[in-house]
Amino acid sequence: MHNEKVILITGASSGIGAATAEKVLEAGHKAVITARSTDKLNAIVERWGEDKVLAVTADVSILAEVTKVVNKANDKFGRIDVVFANAGTGVNSSGIENGDPNEWKTMLDVNINALLFTAKASLPSLRETQGHFIITSSIAGKISLKGSVYGASKWFAYGFGQNLAAEMAEWNGRCTILCPGMVNTPFFNEAKPNKLDPSDIANAVVFAISSDPRCDVREITLMPTK
Ligand SMILES: NC(=O)c1ccc[n+]([C@@H]2O[C@H](COP(=O)([O-])OP(=O)(O)OC[C@H]3O[C@@H](n4cnc5c(N)ncnc54)[C@H](OP(=O)(O)O)[C@@H]3O)[C@@H](O)[C@H]2O)c1
Repeated sequence: MHNEKVILITGASSGIGAATAEKVLEAGHKAVITARSTDKLNAIVERWGEDKVLAVTADVSILAEVTKVVNKANDKFGRIDVVFANAGTGVNSSGIENGDPNEWKTMLDVNINALLFTAKASLPSLRETQGHFIITSSIAGKISLKGSVYGASKWFAYGFGQNLAAEMAEWNGRCTILCPGMVNTPFFNEAKPNKLDPSDIANAVVFAISSDPRCDVREITLMPTK
């Protein structure tokens, strides 16, 4: 794996993904950033320049769009060293009895299917670089939360990451699952200034990708101190 890495980030227009784009660019890596909000992605490109960052607008719940992002990343930078599968969403109606199946479908398309599609589309590239796949699960993927379909989707992300780690280990690939508690991002309607900052999660990504190739950081749990 190269010291200067090419890092593909999903959900890069906002919150944890945008903070991670900034951190890895600051650290001297190259970034391929994707989300649906072209304007927000372009603002990052304007700050860092087209030689360091490539923005590709895509809906990651559509396999053909994720494949397009991977192809454009390879065309531009010649390889992919790290994929950060971070895009995710929640629901407004909580619980099962009161839950909205249409909201569930939209959420599961992103939190589960897009994760699968991102891995499916990028694994051949990561195999070539003995690369690294990083997943944003959640503390909600490790504990029980009354009636939470969102939490169940994050249990999927957590379990999938462990199985993917075993598959990738066959060719010296690495896989890290991030399990943050509450982070102050636009995921919530109100600000959460006393909780984790998106830069805390971005620092965990930088830690995982900077570890010696012999060391696969399998999971990182981050909780607000308060
Ligand atoms: N905030 C927390 O407390 C917290 C805690 C634990 C885990 N997480 C997880 O962290 C991840 C990032 O969340 P965040 O807190 O940073 O929230 P956020 O600020 O709302 O960011 C979500 C990102 O996902 C992208 N996205 C959503 N649907 C998409 C789609 N169909 N196609 C492409 N991109 C899509 C959004 O971009 P566009 O809208 O531009 O497409 C945005 O960039 C999620 O997986 C979330 O579940 C969050």
